[in-house]
Amino acid sequence: MTRKIPEETIQQIKQSLDIAEVIGDYVQLKKQGRNYFGLCPFHGEKSPSFSVSPEKQIYHCFGCGAGGNIFSFITEIENISFQEAVGRLAERAGIQLDVPIPGESANRTASREEDRMLEAHELLTKFYHHLLVNTKEGQEALDYLLGRGFSKEDLETFQIGWSLPNWDFTAKFLQKRGFDPEEMEKAGLIIQREDQSYFDRFRGRVLFPLHDEKGKVVAFSGRALGEEKPKYLNSPETPIFNKSRLLYNFHRARQAIRKHRRAVLFEGFADVIAAASAGVEEGIATMGTSLTDAHIHQIKRIAEQVTVCYDGDSAGIQAAFRASEMLSESGCDVKVALIPDRMDPDDYIKKHGAEKFRDHIIGSAMTLMAFKMVYYKQGKNLQDEGQKLAYIEEVLTEIARLKKAVERDFYLRQVAEQFSLSLDALKQQEKQLFMKQRKRRPSGEQTFQPAAAPRTYQRLYPAYQTAERRLLAYMLKNADTAYKVKELMGGEAFNLDEHQAIFTYLLGYYEEGNAPDASAFISFLPDANLRRLVSDIEMMTVGEYVNDEEVHDYIKEVFKHRKVLEIKSMKQQQIAAEKANDYKEAAQIALKIVKLTKEL
Ligand code: UTP
Ligand code: MN
Repeated sequence: MTRKIPEETIQQIKQSLDIAEVIGDYVQLKKQGRNYFGLCPFHGEKSPSFSVSPEKQIYHCFGCGAGGNIFSFITEIENISFQEAVGRLAERAGIQLDVPIPGESANRTASREEDRMLEAHELLTKFYHHLLVNTKEGQEALDYLLGRGFSKEDLETFQIGWSLPNWDFTAKFLQKRGFDPEEMEKAGLIIQREDQSYFDRFRGRVLFPLHDEKGKVVAFSGRALGEEKPKYLNSPETPIFNKSRLLYNFHRARQAIRKHRRAVLFEGFADVIAAASAGVEEGIATMGTSLTDAHIHQIKRIAEQVTVCYDGDSAGIQAAFRASEMLSESGCDVKVALIPDRMDPDDYIKKHGAEKFRDHIIGSAMTLMAFKMVYYKQGKNLQDEGQKLAYIEEVLTEIARLKKAVERDFYLRQVAEQFSLSLDALKQQEKQLFMKQRKRRPSGEQTFQPAAAPRTYQRLYPAYQTAERRLLAYMLKNADTAYKVKELMGGEAFNLDEHQAIFTYLLGYYEEGNAPDASAFISFLPDANLRRLVSDIEMMTVGEYVNDEEVHDYIKEVFKHRKVLEIKSMKQQQIAAEKANDYKEAAQIALKIVKLTKEL
């Protein structure tokens, strides 16, 4: 049994932290008025309906209904228990907890196994790094790395290491430290032979540890020193490593990405490292796989703008086209930084230096449309009339997809100028292409949405429900209002069970002597649904005090609905009585119905 964390401590943690800052680690938030808005991390969406109120210390999504306080946010997003969430936030706030917090894996064997895999990776990272920088055995690899332009500092920052060219160095190292070989094979570090013995996966390779978004090493990628194949050998997919999710350097780049409101996406992680030491700290890369929706989802949580900086060869340009289309369709503002002369970013930095890379490449990245105009030129001879017309049509089709009239106009002028064509003729053709596209795309599917303003609409509820919500909103603000409503309800219940439950809990909360505080009350609620509902209700802006007249009106509305329901059910009884030829009963019911209707 775990002891309960004292209420005062919980309050103290909450008061020491800014909810917008904590949530800001997961969601990119923009301030608007008193609240912050962003894309909800709990459901996929393209326009922001997720809001955070620092004043009320709560968050709420108008789209999916998620909501609660700082603790429920961490609980839900990290998928951990309330106690663990409190533990993490206490640590963040620098507050000592006297109560032991159950480890993330207290009684789940699966995640204890994962813990051991992580532990092995952490140990090995340190050891491989030590071999590289401090030992004779690592000298050749160290020379190779320094020779290709990595600094000692880079090796430190990215924890680069070296695996000895032995068959069972790692296997023995792990066994000596008590790791289960079977588990370590599952972690991708060693491989079992037919005779049951184990050998190392990584032998004689420069090792780049791959961190997950929390900064834990979950896999390695090993580069051959020479021309051996494969050039890079990666850990296989394991319970802790998912290739189509992991973004290299994400944990380190997070800060910079937030600061610059931009991520820079590279193809290779050598490019990420070179860029970081050239002062572009917001670089990330996929692990040699193409960009997936999972990657984009992660990027979008913290970046508005993504600059795609892939290799300058034709494969790189092709891949950049695909990646930037995907990013753009998911609502990111995309730029493309092209590297000249078929170089990759790493080569470019080596040849032209950090400053040129920052200014001429990253700083001069093109808009997606400008990039497409370059892209469609690839492999075409524009002196040839037919190929030129094909090119113009491709470009016009793209221009027709642009949302903003000024943008369409801008690029149309460029095309007109470049090919000495009449602007009017181009505009006409572009319009036709636009109509064609509209027909092709069913109206329900709007792929190219402009960044919409935050959705702050209130749902339309039936009058009685609105009345109950408003009553609860006022009761959350003021204990006297709560007692008054209790009195006026005279033991009757709210129409909605959830509302009644909140009402009951709220009275209990006040009776314990607690002051009005929606965020604290949310912690008091045992049920996630109720917590969501309270955050939703609390996000309705109501004043602190309410006059008696308004309260009476709402309560009338609540009772009215019960009467309406009662009348409905009586009408059914009346019909049943008539059907059974019990006219006396039917007449009596009719009288009651008249009386109730009059009361309305
Ligand atoms: P590149 O071949 O462009 O490598 O592959 P690079 O980044 O330029 O590396 P250096 O400079 O030659 O050392 C880009 C990415 O593709 C993946 C790696 O993630 C690499 O960063 N890759 C490449 C592999 O997974 N396996 C390979 O054999 C090659
Ligand atoms: Mn390279």
